[in-house]
Amino acid sequence: MYGTRRIFLGGLCLLLLLQVAVGLDNGLALKPPMGWMSWERFRCITDCKLYPDECISENLFRRHADLLVSEGYADVGYEYVIIDDCWLEKDRDNRTQKLVPDRKRFPNGLNTLADHIHDKGLKFGLYQDFGTNTCAGYPGVIKHMQLDAQTFADWDVDYVKLDGCYANLTDMVEGYPEFGRLLNETGRPMVYSCSWPAYQEDAGEIPDYESLKKHCNLWRNWDDIEDSLESLMQIIDYFGKNQDRIQPHGGPGHWNDPDMLLLGNYGLSYDQSKLQMAIWAIMAAPLIMSNDLAAVRPEIKAILQNRAVIAVDQDELGIQGRRILTRNLIEVWQRPITPVTKSGQHSYAVAFVSRRDDGAPYRIPFTVKDLGLNNPNGYQVQDLYANRKLGVYQTDAQFFTRVNPNGVTFYKFTAL
Ligand SMILES: *[C@@H]1O[C@H](CO)[C@@H](O)[C@H](O)[C@H]1NC(C)=O
Ligand SMILES: *[C@@H]1O[C@H](CO)[C@@H](O)[C@H](O)[C@H]1NC(C)=O
Ligand SMILES: *[C@@H]1O[C@H](CO)[C@@H](O)[C@H](O)[C@H]1NC(C)=O
Repeated sequence: MYGTRRIFLGGLCLLLLLQVAVGLDNGLALKPPMGWMSWERFRCITDCKLYPDECISENLFRRHADLLVSEGYADVGYEYVIIDDCWLEKDRDNRTQKLVPDRKRFPNGLNTLADHIHDKGLKFGLYQDFGTNTCAGYPGVIKHMQLDAQTFADWDVDYVKLDGCYANLTDMVEGYPEFGRLLNETGRPMVYSCSWPAYQEDAGEIPDYESLKKHCNLWRNWDDIEDSLESLMQIIDYFGKNQDRIQPHGGPGHWNDPDMLLLGNYGLSYDQSKLQMAIWAIMAAPLIMSNDLAAVRPEIKAILQNRAVIAVDQDELGIQGRRILTRNLIEVWQRPITPVTKSGQHSYAVAFVSRRDDGAPYRIPFTVKDLGLNNPNGYQVQDLYANRKLGVYQTDAQFFTRVNPNGVTFYKFTAL
């Protein structure tokens, strides 16, 4: 008895050590980061005369920092305001070799903008690229990594997204960890978002997840999201098909990143918007919006600010969910969450995704067991979008759901 206990305790210590050793040890992103980023919606719009409210400029980020607070997004957890590509001058400073923010579009430099974002209680993110150039052709970090890491710290940056255009894949294997080390050496805590696995996947290489976990707080696994259902479903399928090698590596401090939320833009319907939000919550994905926050319709804003859905995404266990079965073109996605019972039974978030387009909402039964839920005491079930309690279900009970075409239903099964 004593002996087993000692072995058990020893194992526990080893487990704890392993857990500490596995992730990037900067104490950041213990939950999937939430915020707003410019790329998906505002791309590389640089003509501020023609598009004063849309161009990549101090004005755009000030306005969105203000809107995150005034429209209630900050209250539910959206925190980072992140500048994506196209913020730079085409040349470094000739004397110091430092990066220079576009002089016309960021006339006051980035410290002033960072101060504004921080004064709002938010955090400041900035994009760069590991290669010779950013994807849009501005100068990258490769020959100036130490200088640029320090410049980011001097600008009070809290989150760095490092893209991988114009770079060699083989250089990335050492180069991304190297830039992470240089960020660390500045002494300023900065969330580190790496794009290197997305470039490896494009080249048919399998990413080294152990290295990613050690060196990055989050990483883009695959292609950029575009403003369409087709793009969304391609990403969902990528994560579904490859879940055996991807899912185990997401966790507190180190997340898989399926890219930005499309909600509030042009491409997704109301039902499709709920679908993306639910599956991102199942995947423990970063919730990074990219939209014009002044133009988001109230019903879409309600999805983005749904506290119950956000709570699933931000669940403290940080266990990424999986697609566990597909029946009659209805996919079941499931994620273990809190609360956990005294006997160790997890609660679950369960999403039913319809890949059907045959008109009417589709009604389908599953037993609770079919959903992979086996708690002998059953579950209290709650419809997260309808905000409705559905009562107690035992494991052999039939659970009916009715899913709109290209839509989702989303439930919490609380273990009793
Ligand atoms: C920096 O040098 C480059 C190349 O010599 C030149 O084209 C550019 O105008 C210079 N920029 C400044 C701001 O002096
Ligand atoms: C990548 O490697 C090739 C061949 O070694 C070299 O010619 C090229 O300049 C490199 N590209 C970058 C962006 O470093
Ligand atoms: C730098 O890394 C060390 C060791 O991993 C860690 O303890 C520290 O918190 C990190 N500092 C920053 C600023 O990220």
